[in-house]
Amino acid sequence: MGARLPPALEAAIEQRLVGVSRADLAERAARISGHYRAQGASSAVVRAEADAAAYALSRLPATYAAVDAAFEAIAERAPEFAPATVLDIGAGPGGASWAAVEQWPDVVAVALLDSNRAFLALAAELARSSDHPALAASRPVLADFRALTAPPEPADLVIASYALAEVGVSDAVETARTLWGLARGVLVVVEPGTPAGFERIAAARSALIADGGAVLAPCPHAEACPITAPAWCHFNRRLPRSRDHRLVKGASAPFEDEKFAYVALARPDLRTRGAGERVMSTPRVTKVEAAYRACTPAGLVDRRIPRRERERFVRARRLHWGDWAEDG
Ligand SMILES: C[S@@+](CC[C@H](N)C(=O)[O-])C[C@H]1O[C@@H](n2cnc3c(N)ncnc32)[C@H](O)[C@@H]1O
Repeated sequence: MGARLPPALEAAIEQRLVGVSRADLAERAARISGHYRAQGASSAVVRAEADAAAYALSRLPATYAAVDAAFEAIAERAPEFAPATVLDIGAGPGGASWAAVEQWPDVVAVALLDSNRAFLALAAELARSSDHPALAASRPVLADFRALTAPPEPADLVIASYALAEVGVSDAVETARTLWGLARGVLVVVEPGTPAGFERIAAARSALIADGGAVLAPCPHAEACPITAPAWCHFNRRLPRSRDHRLVKGASAPFEDEKFAYVALARPDLRTRGAGERVMSTPRVTKVEAAYRACTPAGLVDRRIPRRERERFVRARRLHWGDWAEDG
């Protein structure tokens, strides 16, 4: 099971929802989800703080799990990366910043940038409940990321989580380039694991490599992406659903699967662990072998590790889709 929300965040959301009608939240959450599925932007559907709260209950656990997985991949490749400052662009209720301080507790300053007042107000309210001093004192910045007339301070870690989905592909690429200019260490872009999400990730990846970015994750190389339409690169995180989460989604399963796509780029001087390959499918283990698809510097490769190669087989059997494999 993937990451669950930090208890303090879960409690702060619960606290925010005391006395709020679950039927009203469910109605708002359904409207917001339908709007996102039709690739609409938040501004048309998240107008009041109650809408932002419905998002926090229904979508934040999944976007948190996705961004947490991307952070784990960054930490795995760059164990020495220890950001002091975080800039969370299109922060919404701020879940990505909560995940950042969980992964890198030495953060000393967090800025939450969004163009939506309802989201920013909720993000600030939730952040105040954190026992992490930098998150509790995080700075809300009301701004449009496509037109940063007064650009925010650069930061060691710049995050755009499920934010570039809200603008067209060319705006998304231009924004990614602006954000790269603000990233002193790492820029990570996370998007829904859909063809449209991956289109933005792939376009941002190419542009940022051209601008000098070193690919940290998920790709084990900076060559042209070997995944082309109709396929799309994405990963999956399974996350637990709380009772309220189930209620508001009208769902009965105690978990959900969040599909996401991402790319993390680093300044070339960041020390990283050597190249390996990325597991691109759920390994299939049979009596004779473990088999999975891997993204490697030489492109996509179907790995088949025979059971008789005991050590390699045992390692392969333990792999999951999205894992970093040391060798093929
Ligand atoms: C789907 S929400 C994602 C929120 C959060 N980052 C997460 O991962 O849960 C997209 C966020 O991007 C913000 N956003 C969209 N377009 C924006 C823009 N042009 N400038 C600033 N924020 C924007 C929205 O207001 C919203 O908060």
